[in-house]
Amino acid sequence: MKDPSFRRSLALFRAFMREQDDPATAYTLLARDAADQVERYMRLDGRVVADVGGGAGHFTREFRRRGAQSYLFEPDPAELDGAPREVTVLADGYLLPLADGAADLCFSSNVLEHVADPGTFLSEMARVTRPDGLIYVSFTNWLSPWGGHEWAPWHYLGADRARRRYERRTGRPAKHRLGDNLFPIGVGQTLRDVRARDDVRIVSARSRYWPVVPELVPRLPYLREVATWNLLLILRRCP
Ligand SMILES: C[S@@+](CC[C@H](N)C(=O)[O-])C[C@H]1O[C@@H](n2cnc3c(N)ncnc32)[C@H](O)[C@@H]1O
Repeated sequence: MKDPSFRRSLALFRAFMREQDDPATAYTLLARDAADQVERYMRLDGRVVADVGGGAGHFTREFRRRGAQSYLFEPDPAELDGAPREVTVLADGYLLPLADGAADLCFSSNVLEHVADPGTFLSEMARVTRPDGLIYVSFTNWLSPWGGHEWAPWHYLGADRARRRYERRTGRPAKHRLGDNLFPIGVGQTLRDVRARDDVRIVSARSRYWPVVPELVPRLPYLREVATWNLLLILRRCP
């Protein structure tokens, strides 16, 4: 599907709305979409990919389907449900068991908001990426309508309140807790931090799912914190 386009954004949105009932369809679509985004900058066939925080392995499976040698690094065994075991490594993104410059592409989808120290996490992604290789990093920022994850959009009224409301309504413990496994990451601050780095340069900064001019929203101070939804950064590793 053409990216950006209303058709694509609508298909992704519909898949997300059914994610709880049919995660396989939602994540297969998302993985294809992410692989298409990567292939605008780098063909996947024959490349070495590190999928950091790869969870159930939908992205790694899609990258391998396209001919890449993709390996999944994930610290939480509970997240690995269905992940391809032979290419999965139990490892933390802060300390990847890879040599410097081992990967052509270091990929992380929706992980940055789950780490306490995104700067160190990015440094490790940059370390394992070869000079001139690419880094794909996307995250849902805190003030996005989905920033509160399963308790969104009530996080706008406060994280504790939103989490308690979710638990009361569903009778289930919430998966995320602010400051524990979810952190209030911002679009503007992240862009400033990444621009100040000397190990990567920004190739593209855009809203991952927007149907029109996706590069515009992350440039608009204040508005970007709500409207970006999910920030996608394509970074090039400096030689
Ligand atoms: C929302 S899931 C995203 C999974 C998958 N990348 C996707 O987009 O569907 C967040 C993932 O980040 C992982 N994660 C959290 N902290 C991490 C860390 N320090 N290093 C690597 N992965 C981490 C979690 O275990 C979880 O699998």
